[in-house]
Amino acid sequence: MGLADFVAAVEQLAADGVAAFAEAADATSVEQARVGFLGAKQGRLKQVQQLLGGLSATEKPAAGRALNEAKERLQAALEQALARTEQQASTSVARAAVDLTLPGISRALGHRHPITQTIQRLIEIMGRMGFEVAEGPEVEDEWHNFEALNIPADHPARDPLDNFYLANAGGILRLLRSQTSTVQVRVMEMHEPPIRIISLGRVYRPDEADATHFPMFHQIEGLLVARGVTMANLKTTLNDFAKSYLGSEVPIRFRPSFFPFTEPSVEVDLHWQDRWMEFGGAGMVDPAVLAAVGYDPEVFSGFAFGLGVERLCMRRHGITDIRDLYSGDVRFLRQF
Ligand code: FA5
Repeated sequence: MGLADFVAAVEQLAADGVAAFAEAADATSVEQARVGFLGAKQGRLKQVQQLLGGLSATEKPAAGRALNEAKERLQAALEQALARTEQQASTSVARAAVDLTLPGISRALGHRHPITQTIQRLIEIMGRMGFEVAEGPEVEDEWHNFEALNIPADHPARDPLDNFYLANAGGILRLLRSQTSTVQVRVMEMHEPPIRIISLGRVYRPDEADATHFPMFHQIEGLLVARGVTMANLKTTLNDFAKSYLGSEVPIRFRPSFFPFTEPSVEVDLHWQDRWMEFGGAGMVDPAVLAAVGYDPEVFSGFAFGLGVERLCMRRHGITDIRDLYSGDVRFLRQF
């Protein structure tokens, strides 16, 4: 074999090898091509290399260069093929991990309890009217739950049968608050007028559970104290609130009533299922309460209201039994 034939054979070998690497579709085919062309024992490059011995000394350098070039082309083609098939392999592993052909499994997401949703909506509505949220503790002392609210020691509202008193610790009688009006006092003790707050939270009373009563329930308390506040401001605020929360068609009624901490006082009723239902109490803050927290009742006046959050929620969603809200039955809760 002369040099020309040798070089032609080497070039043919390189071209075949590059094509074989390019065609190799997976790692196994690449390995087969590698063994076939670059294999140390039986590889075609090795076989052609053995023909080198038949060439003359002057032909050998050129033949060696041709061989090296062929080897480099084959090596480059091998590396390309390896990179390509590795990438394909990792993509197909990823595809296998998310098999889009499998039937879907739907998982229901949890959501907020209807009372939490109601509280959020009430905060939003009252916030638009400029009321800020104030917080107060659920475990209260008698001063904030009664005394400062004009409910003296001999008042029937303090009856142990009507309240959850706690063990007397450190000489201070404490109880689970029976109303959010306690927060009115706490806010007024801490701040000077003007005041415009709402407070929402749990209250506790040893009431027998029935369709509209539960021993633990939530109230939304509102308090506005400034110069020249009148009953008209209270009625407008509650009317606007009911309109926003329940829709304009909901009739609302104010009935004369009595609370020790407001004078005059009203009961707030909403029309529901052909009858009036009590939603809360309200009134003008009693001057004695203003004086108890150090405000001058000659200068400042205010209104306050306390509404049952469960009853508002029930009215809005057509829930007829308060106990359903606390049954923990997800089939019921899922509807809201
Ligand atoms: C009060 O609690 C007064 N603090 C309200 C108030 C605030 C008056 C500020 C004046 C000024 P009453 O006891 O009526 O009022 O309760 C208010 C509302 O809480 C009721 O109208 C009702 O909607 C709700 N409520 C009362 N007891 C229960 C109960 N056991 N379960 C569910 N809701 C209740």
